[in-house]
Amino acid sequence: MARVVFLNGAFLPADEAKVSVMDRGFLFSDGVYEGVGILGGHLVDNEPHLERFERSMREIQITNPHSRAEWTRLEEELVRRNGVAEGFLYIQITRGVAERDFMFPKAVDPTVMMFTQAKSIANSPAAETGVAVITVEDQRWRRRDIKSVSLLAQVLAKQAAGDAGAQEAWMVEDGFVTEGGSSSAFIVTKAGNIVVRPLSNAILPGITRKSLLRLSKEAGITLEERLFTVQEAYDAAEAFLTSASNFVLPVVSIDGRPVGDGKPGPLTQRLRHLYLDMARVPAEAAQ
Ligand code: PDD
Repeated sequence: MARVVFLNGAFLPADEAKVSVMDRGFLFSDGVYEGVGILGGHLVDNEPHLERFERSMREIQITNPHSRAEWTRLEEELVRRNGVAEGFLYIQITRGVAERDFMFPKAVDPTVMMFTQAKSIANSPAAETGVAVITVEDQRWRRRDIKSVSLLAQVLAKQAAGDAGAQEAWMVEDGFVTEGGSSSAFIVTKAGNIVVRPLSNAILPGITRKSLLRLSKEAGITLEERLFTVQEAYDAAEAFLTSASNFVLPVVSIDGRPVGDGKPGPLTQRLRHLYLDMARVPAEAAQ
C-alpha cells in the first residue's frame, strides 16, 4: 500500500505531496512538530501531545489552523488510511511559504504536514536487550521546552552515538544530564528511587515522561525530580529512557560502562509493562 501523507488539507500519495523551496521550515527551521505513538491502531496519549503542540505553536506565534477536534480527526484518518496498527505519527507545522526574510511574513498560511511510520514498539528487540547510550555536550538553544523542528544538535549527537555503536546520546550541561537526543533520561538509585530532571526550558516536557511519573506515583515508587550528574548515572542501579516512539526502553550501558549488571533492570521492566498496559487501552475506553 502506497504511503498516504496529509498536506495542507489533503490526503495525498507521498510522492505527490510537495512543499515549496521557499517554505520557512526549509529555510529557517521556522516550525514546530509533534510525535505520537500508535498502538493497536490507536494514538497513545494523544490529548497531551496535542496540548504540547498547541503550546509550541503559541510560543513561536504560529496561528493554529485547526481545533483540537479537527487535529484529532485528521490524525485518526491518516492512521486509518495507512492501516498502521503500531508505530508513530509525525505532525509538523511551519510558518509557511514566503520570500526569504527573517521577519514574519504577513497573511501567510502555515504549512501543515503529517505522516505515519509503521514500527514495532511493544515487542521491539531493543526493549528486550536494552540500549547503549553515550554522553555528549548539550549544544542546543535555550528554549528546549519548545518542540522545534530545528534538530541539528540532536542529529549530530545521535550520529555520534551511532558512530560509537550506541543508540542514544544523553546530552550534558554543566555536568548534569539534560535529556536524550530524542527521549527523556531517567536513572534508578541503588535505593530504588527514580530520578528525573525537573521540567524547565532546559528540556522538552516529555509526554511519556509525564504519564510514567503518574503511573510510578500510583504504584508507590519513590520519585526524585532533580538534576543528576553523569557520574550518578554511571553509578545508578538502572537507567532508562522514555519517548512516544519507544515508550520505556532500558539503558544498559553509558559511555561503554555497564549500568548495574548490564541487563535491563527489574524496576525498568515493571515500568515498561505499566506503561504498555496503559497504552493498550484506547483513550475513549479509559474514560
Ligand atoms: N522525540 N526529549 C526530546 C529532545 C525529544 O525529542 C523527545 C521526543 C522526548 C520525549 O518526549 P515524548 O515522550 O513526548 O515523546 C524528550 C520524538 C519521539 C522525536 O523527535 O522523534
